[in-house]
Amino acid sequence: MRNARKFTAMAAGLAVASLALAACSSGDGGSSDDSSGGAGDKVEVFTWWASGSEKLGLDALVGVFDTQHPDVEFINGAVAGGAGSAAKDLLQTRLQANDPPDTFQAHAGAELTDYINAGQVEDVSSLYDEFGLRDAFPADLVDRLTVDGKIYSIPSNIHRANVVWANTQVLTDSGLDPAAKYDTIDDWFVALDAVKEKTGRTPLSVATTWTQVNLLETILLSDLGADGYSGLWDGSTDWSGDDVTKALSDFEKLMSYTNEDRDGLDWPDATQQVIDGNAAFNVMGDWAVAAFEEAGKKAPADYVYMPVPGTDGVFDFLADSFTLPVNAPHPAGAKAWLQTIGSLEGQVAFNKAKGSIPARKDAKPEDFSEYQQSAMKSFGEDTIVSSLAHGAAAPAAWANAISDATSKFTTGGGDLAGFQADLVAAAEANAG
Ligand code: GAL
Repeated sequence: MRNARKFTAMAAGLAVASLALAACSSGDGGSSDDSSGGAGDKVEVFTWWASGSEKLGLDALVGVFDTQHPDVEFINGAVAGGAGSAAKDLLQTRLQANDPPDTFQAHAGAELTDYINAGQVEDVSSLYDEFGLRDAFPADLVDRLTVDGKIYSIPSNIHRANVVWANTQVLTDSGLDPAAKYDTIDDWFVALDAVKEKTGRTPLSVATTWTQVNLLETILLSDLGADGYSGLWDGSTDWSGDDVTKALSDFEKLMSYTNEDRDGLDWPDATQQVIDGNAAFNVMGDWAVAAFEEAGKKAPADYVYMPVPGTDGVFDFLADSFTLPVNAPHPAGAKAWLQTIGSLEGQVAFNKAKGSIPARKDAKPEDFSEYQQSAMKSFGEDTIVSSLAHGAAAPAAWANAISDATSKFTTGGGDLAGFQADLVAAAEANAG
C-alpha cells in the first residue's frame, strides 16, 4: 500500500472531527449542532446505488438503519451511474469545495488510498474499537483500508467482478450445454460463434466504457493468470509484453460479438439483454445476480453463471466501504450510519439484496442465495486479485487513463498497437 501524504489542512480537519467524534460518544441527545447523534440529527449518504437492484440494496440497509437509529434522518445523496461513473467526479468537486456529504461509498484499495492521501477522509480506527469491529473483517480486507496503521473506512460488502452470466434458453437454442464451463477464451469464441449462427442474438452484451474496462480486466486476468495480472499493478508485468498483446487481441475479438448500442447503455441494460433473452452472455460483477432475482429469474432454469473463461480459481475482488469525510457536516449522523454498516444485521440485510457477500466473517452462508454461497466459498479458497474497474487495483488517475484508452479503442479511435501503446504510457505516467 502506498504511503499516505499528509497535509496541514488534513491535520486541521482531523482535529475538528476528533472533537466531534468525542462529543458524539458522550451519548446525550440533541441536535446535529452538538454532534451528539440524537433526535434531529441527519446523515447524507453519498452512493451511486440510485435505482433498480442497487437501490433495493440501499433500501434494505436503510431499513436496518431506521430501526437501529430511529432518531437520525437518512438523506439519500445517491448519484446515478454504474460503478460511480458520474458520482465520483461530482464527489471530487464537492470534496474540493469543502462541501462533503456526511459519508460516501469508496472502494477498498487504491481508490480509498487516493482519498486518504488527499487528506479527504478521517481515521475511523476508534470506531472499530467502539463497535467491536477489530476482528469482524478478514485481515486482508482491513489492510486495504489501512494506511500507516490507521483504518479509514468500514466495509459493507465484497463483490466479485469476473463472472459471466448467461441466458439458459439462448444457450440451448444455440446448441450449447448450459452447464458447460469454458477453460479458455478460445473455447468461449466457439460458443459465441454458435450463438451468432444459430440464433442471431447478441452473443455478448456490454454497455458503456466502464463495463468494457470490467470486461478487459477479466480478459487480462484470463490470459496473464493471477500473478501476471497482479504484476500489471506492481510493475512486475510489462504492459508492452506479448502476453498483454494477446489479451488485447482477445478483447478486440470479444468486442466484435457485442451489441452496437453499447456506449449509450449502463450495466443494468446490458444485463437485462441476457435476462430478456436478447443476448447470450454478459460479463458483469455479481451485483448482476440481484438484477436476475429482481426480475424473478431462477438459476439454472433461467440463467447460469461461471467464472470468466480461464479465471476459475481466481476471485477478482472489490469491496464497497463507507467513510467519514473531513469536515462532514453531521459526524454524529455519519457515526450512526457507520455503526449500521459494520453491524451483522446491516450486512445481512444489505448483502442479501445486493448480490455481494458480507464483509463480516460471522454471517451464516445458509442465510444467502446459492450464488452467494458459491461466492463465499470462492472468496475463502481462491486466489484474490484486485479489480481495476472498481477501484481496488489502481489509483483513479491511472484507472481513468486506462478507461480513456479503452474508450478510444472501442469507439474506433485506433488500432491494437496504438491501444497497447496508450496502456504502456498510462502505466509509465501513473505506476507508483
Ligand atoms: C461497483 C460497486 C458495486 C456496484 C457496481 C455497479 O463499483 O462497488 O457496489 O454498485 O459498481 O454500479
